[in-house]
Amino acid sequence: MRHWSDEMAHTLLRVSSVADWQSYHDIRRSVLWQERGLHGYDESRPEERLLHHHPLLLRFNGRGAGTTRLDNLRDGTGIARLVAVCAALRGQGHGRILDTMVKEYANKLGLHTLFVNAAADALGFYTSTGWGRLVHNRPQLLEQADECVPMQITIVR
Ligand SMILES: CC(C)(COP(=O)(O)OP(=O)(O)OC[C@H]1O[C@@H](n2cnc3c(N)ncnc32)[C@H](O)[C@@H]1OP(=O)(O)O)[C@@H](O)C(=O)NCCC(=O)NCCS
Repeated sequence: MRHWSDEMAHTLLRVSSVADWQSYHDIRRSVLWQERGLHGYDESRPEERLLHHHPLLLRFNGRGAGTTRLDNLRDGTGIARLVAVCAALRGQGHGRILDTMVKEYANKLGLHTLFVNAAADALGFYTSTGWGRLVHNRPQLLEQADECVPMQITIVR
């Protein structure tokens, strides 16, 4: 069930301020490392700062709610990496809004196709939001990952 009345409560921004970097890293560390019993999340990886990589923060009512990084492969395609919604906010439609806003953002960059390495337990989310299993060749930069399913979506309108 949704707990807001107006989708304007959500904004998606490219991370740049110190506070937003903090929020971005906190969400990723908590959701994708600590919840999975992993350690050693590294905030200083140079891939985060490349110009064609877009670290994105979804804000809900002004607070960090979700993240992903959209890597522009500069051939009309891109990879959504490390999609995460804060634990307390899951199952309320924020992931779907993040997904929609990332597709709009990608569209503005001129991308026509997106890829993701979907965690096995998030497959239902990707299916619900229109993604399908990768049918053609895997882009070189979409690493083969254990227990992940490569997926894609065409976003050209
Ligand atoms: C996957 C994730 C981003 C989804 O975010 P969310 O805010 O819970 O998703 P929503 O509430 O917007 O759900 C959107 C749709 O996906 C479905 N969905 C969400 N998570 C699902 C799951 N794990 N299994 C099956 N369906 C799921 C919902 O039922 C909903 O469908 P509906 O609108 O047809 O009812 C979030 O659960 C998360 O951060 N999980 C942990 C990290 C993770 O697995 N990230 C993905 C890495 S590839």
